[in-house]
Amino acid sequence: MINYPSDWPEPVVRVQSLSETGDTVIPDRYIKPPLERPSPSFNSTGSSDNLNIPLIDLHLSGPVNRDHPTIQKTTMDEISLACREWGFFQVVNHGIRPELVDGVREIWREFFHQPMEMKQDYANAPTTYEGYGSRLGMQKGAILDWSDYFFLHYLPSNLKDHNKWPSQPPFLRDMVEEYSKEIVRLGNILLKVFSINLGLEEDYLQKAFGDGDIGACLRVNFYPKCPQPDLTLGLSSHSDPGGMTFLLPDENVTGLQVRKGGEWITVKPARHAIVVNIGDQIQILTNAIYKSVEHRVIVNPDKERVSLAYFFNPKCDVRIAPASELVTLTTPALYQSMTYDEYRHFIRTKGLQGKSQVESLKISK
Ligand code: OGA
Ligand code: NI
Repeated sequence: MINYPSDWPEPVVRVQSLSETGDTVIPDRYIKPPLERPSPSFNSTGSSDNLNIPLIDLHLSGPVNRDHPTIQKTTMDEISLACREWGFFQVVNHGIRPELVDGVREIWREFFHQPMEMKQDYANAPTTYEGYGSRLGMQKGAILDWSDYFFLHYLPSNLKDHNKWPSQPPFLRDMVEEYSKEIVRLGNILLKVFSINLGLEEDYLQKAFGDGDIGACLRVNFYPKCPQPDLTLGLSSHSDPGGMTFLLPDENVTGLQVRKGGEWITVKPARHAIVVNIGDQIQILTNAIYKSVEHRVIVNPDKERVSLAYFFNPKCDVRIAPASELVTLTTPALYQSMTYDEYRHFIRTKGLQGKSQVESLKISK
């Protein structure tokens, strides 16, 4: 295990508190360099506003399909294309009850709207990141993102600790339990689909992730209203370091943008959809047949935004390397192997920095 400092390099400021002061200017430490700021939005013509990430119907609603999920061939093909071309897609009829999808998002919204003292009980530290937080990375003087978050572990079960989950509002823990179970069910289905689509044994990725010992952790993002949304970001550009991510977006307000070519595409979520994206570990395992794509979050002057990012990760101490079945003379291994624990160290010390980390693992020619 890698050890982290026990406290942040600077006093923690809650972005929600800043937002609630009603100031019309944001502090300098949230102002991004000009090239990183959101591009001015031009809505009427000439923009890629109509473009969206692929929408895939999994046809997994109903009890029969839940216990014996079968994914149709055409759906498998749609997923394959989305993984290769986008690294991002949204799924509907994923089998998670619509009431649970809305309920878990709204109970977290309530959590963030409780008095600050209640949230401060869960204030996090860089040692594990668990709890209520307002920054990623340990660099003193870093430019920060316009968001607060709550981070918790679900798997492996020895890391799960209900005492570190909010005790209020009532039923939050129960609802997070139920939602987590559903996300893990969906994650296991998709690992199998990806393995088959890649021509690997159907349990290949599952085994590569640590065979039943995967990690699953939840980061609930809270993006308060921002008086100067053109100068900052809710979350800086990054690719997710883990295996894959299941994002439950806020349906009241857009914010997530995905890089496609040179452009930023704003994700328009379908009702009750879950956004799935490939993380760096699957990019490494597939030798870049599937890519983890850069994304970021923009903020809004009139609306707050709540999202739940569920990270589905390899066991922290198994070595992740390109699958030998996908390494050929013409497609040699692109990456050195590393454990997820080692990999995550980068993001936990330096914060979000585009795709620089997975690039740094590239084997030089
Ligand atoms: C993340 C993330 C996007 C969002 O938490 O890694 O990319 O829409 N979140 O909140
Ligand atoms: Ni992300």
